[in-house]
Amino acid sequence: MSPTPLPEGEEKARAVRTLFDSISGRYDLVNRVMTFGMDAGWRRRAVRELRLPLGSLVADLACGTGDLCREAAKAGMRPIGFDFSHGMLVAARTPVPLVQADILRLPLRDASIDGATCGFALRNVVDLGGFFAELARVVRPAGRIALLEASRPDNGVLRAGHTLYFNHVVPFIGGVLSNRTAYAYLPKSMAYLPPPGGMLSMLRLAGFPDVQRFQLTGGLTQLFVATRANARS
Ligand SMILES: C[S@@+](CC[C@H](N)C(=O)[O-])C[C@H]1O[C@@H](n2cnc3c(N)ncnc32)[C@H](O)[C@@H]1O
Repeated sequence: MSPTPLPEGEEKARAVRTLFDSISGRYDLVNRVMTFGMDAGWRRRAVRELRLPLGSLVADLACGTGDLCREAAKAGMRPIGFDFSHGMLVAARTPVPLVQADILRLPLRDASIDGATCGFALRNVVDLGGFFAELARVVRPAGRIALLEASRPDNGVLRAGHTLYFNHVVPFIGGVLSNRTAYAYLPKSMAYLPPPGGMLSMLRLAGFPDVQRFQLTGGLTQLFVATRANARS
């Protein structure tokens, strides 16, 4: 039997929003358990890689419950979070301003922010090229971006262990603590992600020519870091 196809377009956007609304209450807890707390270090690294001065205005796109916003605030930046899931925003415990919005159509002026972060949401957006273009529109020239996303290790042994963990253990933990169907979708949604080379090309084309990719914790997570080019592409 062939696997059920993943939703696309508006159907995908609706499914993603509904899914995150439904798991928002225990999202932070499941994250901590699922990653053995390593996600906090990945977020700190992303904020550090922005290399922006204190007081910089940073948009955290698809902010969820606001973990990256909190890290950016701790690092002395002025973060604003954007997410389309009302449930995730309500579950956020942060004094940082949060806005309910689609990150493909941000309520921000051109070149109005110094930097942007995005944590574990690239595979959830309906139009990744459109998202990178929106990033290029709102980040000022010489502004910085840091995008985190789940990844698969290159090493064969680690990769096999990771597949087992992601496809079986994650849905199990999700089922015990939250919602099994939702946490079974998360590993499947990795299929939406282009391979690393494709992501790098898309970001270069969008206006981030110096983009670099870092593999964190043996390749469990990937981090894209880049500077907005001076000339509009
Ligand atoms: C896996 S969660 C990540 C949350 C947070 N960034 C973190 O690091 O924990 C993905 C988030 O992306 C949001 N999202 C997905 N597509 C979006 C879109 N087009 N506009 C706004 N938010 C979106 C979801 O609502 C969800 O909160």
